[in-house]
Amino acid sequence: MTDAALRRAADAEHGVFLAESTPVVRRALDAGCRPVSFLLPQRYLETAAKQLADAFETFPEAPVFTGDDELLSQLTGFHLHRGALAAMERPAPRPVDEVLAGARRVLVAEDLTDPTNLGAIVRSAVALGWDGLLLSPRAADPLYRRAIRVSMGTVFRLPYARATEWPAGLDDLNKAGFAVVGLEVTEKALDLGTPEATALRHANKLALVVGAEGPGVRAETLKMCDAHVKIPMPAGVDSLNVGAATAVALWELAGIRLASR
Ligand SMILES: C[S@@+](CC[C@H](N)C(=O)[O-])C[C@H]1O[C@@H](n2cnc3c(N)ncnc32)[C@H](O)[C@@H]1O
Repeated sequence: MTDAALRRAADAEHGVFLAESTPVVRRALDAGCRPVSFLLPQRYLETAAKQLADAFETFPEAPVFTGDDELLSQLTGFHLHRGALAAMERPAPRPVDEVLAGARRVLVAEDLTDPTNLGAIVRSAVALGWDGLLLSPRAADPLYRRAIRVSMGTVFRLPYARATEWPAGLDDLNKAGFAVVGLEVTEKALDLGTPEATALRHANKLALVVGAEGPGVRAETLKMCDAHVKIPMPAGVDSLNVGAATAVALWELAGIRLASR
């Protein structure tokens, strides 16, 4: 799994993803994902036997491998410091219309290549009450190990689909009645926080398009958006990190105010 080319081939053929850390493994199990195998540091075996006892019992065919920290680091290429690692079967991909059906707030990740950023925006989307995620064909894989981990396993709660054509895939949002809003610093972008931008909160169905780390939202995509919004910044500052910018916009455009627990 440390060889990118090999991993892609293995993923495609066997449909495996890696859940890292016990809370993330737990969330994947709770979401109905089936484990293929577990890998546990020896020092953690006793605790895991308690924390994951139900999973070991439900899936007796999934072997539990173990070893000391050094062996496991050599094997995986990273340090397993948060408990369990599990290889799990990938859930079947969802069609776009299934994700859009019934959704009111959809986040659109265009060409986001960094799994850490993708994981962070998934976590924000779930925490701020958004209902779905649409990925452009080139966007990172939400089930990449780092993305899952940074999302804290919330990726298993957010229905997502990948468009096959881009930016033509945005038409599906239009057809489903979504107002499509591009998050980008453009000439016509409304400043978030102003009454004009705040009015967008009242849209019954709204999709927010966020752009790639380097180039931002593509020009053709921006042309297809109903409105653009931006976070005003002081002179000399080009942009925020996409994860930070997205969190601000998701909050501003969520449309509902979440009750605190
Ligand atoms: C890091 S930016 C891309 C780089 C940016 N085009 C630049 O030239 O600095 C990645 C994405 O983050 C979002 N973003 C970052 N800062 C923003 C801001 N101040 N207002 C609106 N969107 C922003 C946009 O969605 C953008 O496509």
